[in-house]
Amino acid sequence: MSWPPVDEATLNAVYKVLSSGRLSVSWRADCGSESVERTLAREFATVYECPTAVSVDHGTSGLVVALESLGVGPGDEVIVPSVTWVAPATAVLRAGAVPILADVDPITGCISAETVSAVVSHRTVGVIVVHLTGYVADMGAILSFCGKAGLWCVEDCSQAHLCEWNHKKVGTLGDIGVLSLGAAKQIPAGEGGMVLSRHSEFQTTLEQLRADSRRSGAESIHAVNHCLIEDGSTYGTNYCMSELSAAVALDQLGKYREVSGLVQGRMEKLAESFMSSSVLAGMKRSHWETNQVCYEYPLRLLRTDIYDAETMIRRLRAVNIDAYKVRNPLFDSDLFSPNNHPQFRSRAGLCMENWTSQYPGAVAYSQGTVLFHHSVFQLDSCSYERLVERFDCLISELSR
Ligand SMILES: Cc1ncc(COP(=O)(O)O)c(C=O)c1O
Repeated sequence: MSWPPVDEATLNAVYKVLSSGRLSVSWRADCGSESVERTLAREFATVYECPTAVSVDHGTSGLVVALESLGVGPGDEVIVPSVTWVAPATAVLRAGAVPILADVDPITGCISAETVSAVVSHRTVGVIVVHLTGYVADMGAILSFCGKAGLWCVEDCSQAHLCEWNHKKVGTLGDIGVLSLGAAKQIPAGEGGMVLSRHSEFQTTLEQLRADSRRSGAESIHAVNHCLIEDGSTYGTNYCMSELSAAVALDQLGKYREVSGLVQGRMEKLAESFMSSSVLAGMKRSHWETNQVCYEYPLRLLRTDIYDAETMIRRLRAVNIDAYKVRNPLFDSDLFSPNNHPQFRSRAGLCMENWTSQYPGAVAYSQGTVLFHHSVFQLDSCSYERLVERFDCLISELSR
């Protein structure tokens, strides 16, 4: 299918913003209704059953304001996964602190209480957990470790929209949850993000951190003039989401909620197809994962001695399955290059101090996994059946 799903409702939502006179919360408008970004944030708060939801222009800026609201700064260390998109590590650098890489589970790619405890130091103030590809990290053990060590926990749920840990949505378990609503994500805005928290006291601070020190007015209807009050008690910068992005995200949130049951069912069934294979394994499910949907479906290579990632990607593409490689772990990534930024350079040595240590989980995960995009699970039934047939043929061919 083409991504994202766009229909008349999507087009109408965008058109409504364009003709409303309010393209952004940063400018006054007499459009007679509250801002779409505010409606979107409220909808997220309802769906995620949490008191705090603040929209931002990116997942990356969401991570930055999350760290700022927790008081992170120079001299602090924050533990981040060694396998992830670079944003969590970049956000820690932007907040003035040092990101310390933790190893990951070789199957899920997520950090665990053990891998966090291996790199914790007296400078550690918190942990950013990434629920990678849709796998939910072992939050019970991680939160218990953080509690005992006096660390806060930020959940990066950019790749795990609507996933659940023991019937609670990820993003509401730690202190703050962040979602990227980037173009390829399950709930896309084009560019965008959402910051959530189970603590209501973060709401105003987060608003100010993302809106040049301004906060939303107490009144819920922002029909006239500026939506934002120039408060200034917390010094922020401008990471506001545009009204156009908010309209797209609101439309896509509704659409993804409608299809997530179907996606979950198809993912479960696909995992069953791989059970007979000695070469490929599908997504596994831990007992705490009460809703498992994915951003990228991870296929695990069980015989890397015969089929390494590149060979398997070729085989998958030959049957029209658009698989691709896992990104290199951050210690081996061109994107994580603190030496190439004037403000980060002085901390580069500290970031890389522990890179000489081994990351067996990260290496095994990235060499032993290939991915494909979640949109496949939203194909119409005929196309999806054909895709499953192609998978089945490939599985039996590989076993010969
Ligand atoms: C785990 C993770 N965190 C953060 C981000 C950054 O989000 P954005 O691109 O919206 O800044 C991404 C984007 O892919 C991501 O996958």
